Amino acid sequence: MHNIDMELIEMTLDVMKYAIHRITNTSLELGSPKKEEELRRLVGETITDRGIGGENAFQLFKDVLIKATVPIDHPRHLAFVPAAPTRAAIMFDLVTAASSIHGAYWMEGAGGIFCENEAMKWLVSLTGLPKPAFGVFTSGGTAANLSALVAAREYWRKNPEHQNIKGLIITSVGAHSSVKAMAKVIDVDLWLVETEDAMSGEALRSVLKTLDAQQRKRLFAVVGTGGTTNAGIIDDLSGIAEICETEKLWFHVDAAYGGGALAADSVRHLFNGIERADSITIDPHKWLFSPYDCGAVIYKDPQLAKEAHSQEGSYLDIFKDEGAHGFNPSDYQIQLTRRVRGMPLWFSLAMHGTDKYKWAVEQGILLANLAGRLIEANPVVELVREPSLSCVLFRRKGWTPDDYRDWTYKNQREGFALVTPTKWKQGGAYETVARFCFINPDTTEEDIVAILGTMG
Ligand SMILES: Cc1ncc(COP(=O)(O)O)c(C=O)c1O
Repeated sequence: MHNIDMELIEMTLDVMKYAIHRITNTSLELGSPKKEEELRRLVGETITDRGIGGENAFQLFKDVLIKATVPIDHPRHLAFVPAAPTRAAIMFDLVTAASSIHGAYWMEGAGGIFCENEAMKWLVSLTGLPKPAFGVFTSGGTAANLSALVAAREYWRKNPEHQNIKGLIITSVGAHSSVKAMAKVIDVDLWLVETEDAMSGEALRSVLKTLDAQQRKRLFAVVGTGGTTNAGIIDDLSGIAEICETEKLWFHVDAAYGGGALAADSVRHLFNGIERADSITIDPHKWLFSPYDCGAVIYKDPQLAKEAHSQEGSYLDIFKDEGAHGFNPSDYQIQLTRRVRGMPLWFSLAMHGTDKYKWAVEQGILLANLAGRLIEANPVVELVREPSLSCVLFRRKGWTPDDYRDWTYKNQREGFALVTPTKWKQGGAYETVARFCFINPDTTEEDIVAILGTMG
């Protein structure tokens, strides 16, 4: 398996040919899933004693398996939070994989970690956090949120009075599911402010007033959202920061989706207050055009993260030795062995410059506003709320939840688009509505018009 022979060389060329075709393809096929039994019937047994051969396995992948996936960068993929990695970033993901760099410790990964840190400096500069703020790339927003919450909890636990009590976090209903899930992972309770709209400083203050002394003692962090996943709403970050500062609470901002918009001058002011956070999550694999997977967690005081995350072990001592001195990404988040997943972002930033990133993010905002105008001009649909960041919620007049579901499946089955419904709370009740989330600057007005056209 580790030998170099003709078969390997030919396979390498085939793989490169595939990669070149995929990177330059401008008419992607939007695949749809098949049942597992059907995929098994189509590809047969692929793991056998003697192997089925690289050529054969690759052919099955190209003929069958890739067609059962949705390319996340399809211009009519407007569901969930789509993605649109730059071609440069994808190319460099290949280089990252081929280079086999261990991204945990400077001793092994210095050159790669240097690249990551250059990209990280730009991300940190977008937040406005003062020195010595810094961060690391994680597998995504979930891991970034978890890493930040662990740092916050450990900081709080330094006080001996907090050592044997369960922590409490305040966030809002609109916060991402990963915040709620990670609270379970670290076994802390959550207090949800009842709003899917922006969580205001006032709402936070009212919750604080209702806490009894024991709850107040257990409270150690507030999580605000810099762009909700459902609707692109940004919490009142300055108002929340103000309260967290006076109440000595850790302020985490989950800007996994919206963080890319920190680069967009047109909306940057909406994030004011983020520069007062203790930690921030931003996912470059969402709105900063990195391939999966690439999240980031940034800390106002990285030393606190280091105290929470640095792993100890006799086999790790050498990494901490003066001779191996340098920045060790493993000290600042939950993962030890890690790929240098910030390298594709670094290369793409270095190749294109940050102005092109600003432009590409602004495109998502322009597309959302354009979609808003097209919806207003179309008699069968109406806006549920004004577009926010790159999210648009709208209803097809007269549709039931089943109609939205059938419409989603039909568009996907026909290889036309992936647009999924969501729910929005109006006056105490949840309504099923349609949702666009724009990331890809290649999405066109024609795409939006055509999708609205499928609603009859
Ligand atoms: C606001 C927000 N936070 C966290 C996450 C989780 O990120 P990931 O899927 O990269 O773990 C998402 C994902 O959509 C998100 O939108």
